[in-house]
Order: sequence, then structure tokens, then C-alpha cells
Amino acid sequence: MMTRVALALALIGVSVCGVVGLQLWPVPYRRFDYRPKTDPYCQAQYTFCPTGYADGSIPLMKDEDTIEIFRLQAPVWEFKYGDLLGHFKIMHDAIGFKSSLTGKNYTAEWYELFQLGNCTFPHLRPDVEEPFWCNQGAACFFEGIDDEHWRSYGTLVPVATISGSMFNQLAKWIKEDNNTGIYYETWTVKDSMAPNSTLWFDSYDCSKFVLRVYQKLSELGATFKKSIETKYTRLFLYSGEPVYLGNASTIFGPHGNKSLAAEIHKFYFPYRPHQSFKDLLLSILEIYGKSVLQKTFYLYYNFEYWYLPMKPPYITITYEEIPLPSR
Ligand SMILES: *[C@@H]1O[C@H](CO)[C@@H](O)[C@H](O)[C@H]1NC(C)=O
Ligand SMILES: *[C@@H]1O[C@H](CO)[C@@H](O)[C@H](O)[C@H]1NC(C)=O
Ligand SMILES: *[C@@H]1O[C@H](CO)[C@@H](O)[C@H](O)[C@H]1NC(C)=O
Ligand SMILES: *[C@@H]1O[C@H](CO)[C@@H](O)[C@H](O)[C@H]1NC(C)=O
Ligand SMILES: *[C@@H]1O[C@H](CO)[C@@H](O)[C@H](O)[C@H]1NC(C)=O
Ligand SMILES: *[C@@H]1O[C@H](CO)[C@@H](O)[C@H](O)[C@H]1NC(C)=O
Repeated sequence: MMTRVALALALIGVSVCGVVGLQLWPVPYRRFDYRPKTDPYCQAQYTFCPTGYADGSIPLMKDEDTIEIFRLQAPVWEFKYGDLLGHFKIMHDAIGFKSSLTGKNYTAEWYELFQLGNCTFPHLRPDVEEPFWCNQGAACFFEGIDDEHWRSYGTLVPVATISGSMFNQLAKWIKEDNNTGIYYETWTVKDSMAPNSTLWFDSYDCSKFVLRVYQKLSELGATFKKSIETKYTRLFLYSGEPVYLGNASTIFGPHGNKSLAAEIHKFYFPYRPHQSFKDLLLSILEIYGKSVLQKTFYLYYNFEYWYLPMKPPYITITYEEIPLPSR
């Protein structure tokens, strides 16, 4: 009996956070002590968090207040392309809050400082082999919920109700999370499409922020409404066991591996600064072609490079249910 339990646990261990060889999978997303200043080379086409509170503060609620929570979802870049990206189910997620004492409402979201393309592909500067990444992401909290934006092609549904004091605890957590989780990661990397396949790397994007907030709220004692469909966009890469290559200084530095440096540079060469989401989609198609032909992907994760031996179906975009926390 004991052995069976142990075996079952071992199997769960393999599928949820497996150990193959000495490396622990999935590779944990690295947390930082603080958020460094962004490099002046990175210039946003659209200002990050234009209507947020100046110092990133989140207003304090009265402890006895009742706060309604909304799931918000709309196609990425809806303001520019309408429902176009909705057809690909490339959705952006956020959370809404409404105070019953003041009637004011608020939106919290986590997104790229320099747009998705800049988080997915690096810049290659003339005469510099090392790719340059503008890949920071951060939380934005602002007053108001743009009902029209979320409702027209997306979702705006209440999912839970919490007290003002729970909201204030959540606000404190959002600030900590924002200061320690500083970069965006587009890709989820798995061994195969099988549900129990090993997860090598997990993404870190807008939907992951929403999922972390739901989890935190659940820990704080929130009860979520049942039977609300909650689907999220995920971009998957499929590969055999990844191989660690090193960081920028070990690969591109004076004592780096010149041939590897050249290969990584070549890999990213076609994907230079993106000005539009259409360009980004084209790049994703191109990188798909490349993965199929060369069975190679160089992933940048935790500011380090990994080699992915790619395999079918190489890249997929899914829109999958991840249920609300239940207690
Ligand atoms: C990506 O970064 C470059 C360099 O900072 C910038 O010129 C460009 O506008 C950014 N792209 C978008 C879509 O913001
Ligand atoms: C998160 O960090 C960014 C970048 O420093 C900042 O602009 C933003 O105001 C912060 N958000 C919150 C909610 O603290
Ligand atoms: C949020 O507040 C605005 C301004 O008062 C209002 O137009 C909108 O309907 C509110 N949305 C929700 C979901 O409460
Ligand atoms: C995954 O599940 C399939 C069938 O459900 C099984 O054949 C396979 O051995 C499992 N793989 C792992 C790694 O657990
Ligand atoms: C890069 O890796 C080397 C070797 O592991 C390490 O000594 C160095 O501190 C790393 N550099 C950065 C910037 O993390
Ligand atoms: C340099 O990288 C290549 C892969 O591009 C690898 O085959 C080779 O073993 C590496 N050399 C050293 C000295 O690590």
C-alpha cells in the first residue's frame, strides 16, 4: 500500500514539477530584490500605465467596505484591430474592483513596458553580437473600468466579493509582486501536448498576474462564484529536455563561446523591432517555420539562454480553461 502511494506521488511529481537528471523542472521564474531602471535604449511606443497613480500607489479602502471583483478580458490591441486578434483568441486579461461605499471602480493589469514584440524578440544592434532585450513587465493600477472596451469583444463578469480589509492586504501583495517579478515571458515550454507532459518553463504574462491575484484572494479567504468560464491564451513551444547555455556574459563576453554567440544572433536576426502586432504575428509564423526546419529554439528565461530541441507540433496558441480557485 505504502509503495503504491509513494509511486503515485512520484508520478504526480513527474508531471507537476518533475525532476529529470539534476535540473528541477519547470525552471522557477526568478524573483529580484528590486526593479532596476529600464535602459534608455528601450522606448515605449505607447506610454506604460498612462492613467495610473503617479507613484504606483493603490488607494486604501475602508475595512468595512464591500469590494466587487470582475474578470476582464479583451482581444490584445482591440483599440487598433477590433476583434481581429480575438479570432486568434489572443486575449489580454485584467481584474476590476468596485467599492460599494464610494461607487468608484478600478482596474489592475500586468503588461509589457515596451509591448509584446519587445518581450518576445530582442533587438540586434549594429556591430554588437549580444541581443538586447526590452522585456520588462509590470503592474498598472488605475481608477476606472472601461466597460465598453471589455464588453464589446470580451468579458466583464463579477467573480467574487471581498471586504475592504482584504483588498488592502491584496494591494500590499500587488506592490511586492510588482517589485520582484520584473520581466515578461511569452512562452510556455512543454515536452508534448499530453496533459501529463513535463513543463520545462512557464510563461509570465498578464494572465499569470490575474491567476496569482485570484490565488492570493483565495488565500485571503475570498470565495469565488462557481461555474464561470475562465479561459486564457497561452503560447506553447514543444521541445525535448532543454540544455542550459549560460547568460549574456558567459556567451557573448570576452571569454564566451563565439560560435554559439553567432548562432544565437543568427536565430534572432529576422525578428527586429516590431512596430505592429501584425509584424509580430508574421514573426511568430516565421519562427514556427524555423523551428520546424532547424528544430532549434534559443529561449531567453531568467536572463539566461537555453537551447530547446524543438519537436512537433513545435508552436501552438491555445485558449484553455483554468478554473477559479475553489476552497
Ligand atoms: C520596441 O522597442 C524599441 C526600442 O526601444 C522601440 O523603438 C519600439 O517602439 C518598441 N516597440 C513597441 C511596439 O513599442
Ligand atoms: C509597478 O512597477 C512599474 C514600473 O516601475 C510602475 O510604473 C508601476 O506604477 C508599479 N505598479 C504598482 C501597482 O505598484
Ligand atoms: C465603472 O465606473 C464608470 C464611471 O463611473 C462607469 O461608467 C462604469 O459603468 C463602471 N463599471 C463597473 C463595471 O462598475
Ligand atoms: C502520460 O499519460 C499517458 C496515458 O495517460 C501514459 O501512457 C504516459 O506514460 C504518461 N506519461 C508520463 C510521463 O507520466
Ligand atoms: C553569468 O554567469 C556567470 C557564471 O555562472 C556568473 O558568474 C555571473 O555572475 C552571471 N552574470 C550575470 C549578469 O548574472
Ligand atoms: C560552443 O557552442 C557550440 C554550440 O554552438 C558547442 O557545440 C560547443 O561545444 C561549445 N564550445 C565550448 C568550448 O563550450
